[in-house]
Amino acid sequence: MIELAPSILSADFARLAEQVQQAVEGGATLLHVDVMDGHFVPNLTIGPPVVASLRKATNLPLDVHLMIEDPDRYIPAFLDAGADWISVHQEVCVHLNRTLAFLRQHNVVGGVVLNPATPVHTLEEVLDMVDYVLIMSVNPGFGGQKFIPGALGKIRKLVAARNDRRLNFRIEVDGGVSLENVGEIVRAGAEILVAGNSIFGRGDPKSNTESLLKAATEAGLMKV
Ligand code: DX5
Ligand code: ZN
Repeated sequence: MIELAPSILSADFARLAEQVQQAVEGGATLLHVDVMDGHFVPNLTIGPPVVASLRKATNLPLDVHLMIEDPDRYIPAFLDAGADWISVHQEVCVHLNRTLAFLRQHNVVGGVVLNPATPVHTLEEVLDMVDYVLIMSVNPGFGGQKFIPGALGKIRKLVAARNDRRLNFRIEVDGGVSLENVGEIVRAGAEILVAGNSIFGRGDPKSNTESLLKAATEAGLMKV
């Protein structure tokens, strides 16, 4: 099933609940929350208090993307705040097995994220421990960047690895997803599409969500 996860990074934070509601009306089924620490990525965003407020404002599962150093230290606070999904970057987890095992034990949908320069094979030993893999299709830190096409090959590799090993993790893609490229992204095998600028950048979040989801779903139906 194709799902659209609007990224609130590009939303108007002063009208967050309203904008999220518009995306829900357009068919969004997951809310992507970008957490940045100014160290792992050159930007600062939000922390557990905003996740706790969002938890009260919407029934959508919250997909919390941790772009932070030392995520082990902060995961419990995001769990307490009501995160339903949590993903950590491969690049910052020295003990990735331990971090993913912790997520598994804590009733949260657990994922691992790869930066554009990090190869898929670095996940070989943990693919059976995750509920989803998030492929970054931009260098993380900012919304509104251009999609890096190399992400398509990484998505295909993940699909092949999943088939070979009979696993069932889901594949999410994040960065530069737009009406123009969503078809090829879905045909490559992505099932969860994060979109910030395409939803909240201009125009109406509800109709933007509807159009992007429609294009993605049609591409999904055409897949052999
Ligand atoms: C980038 C974030 C993304 C970002 C995507 O660091 O992880 O989730 O909000 O935004 P767009 O869709 O505008 O590229
Ligand atoms: Zn993200």
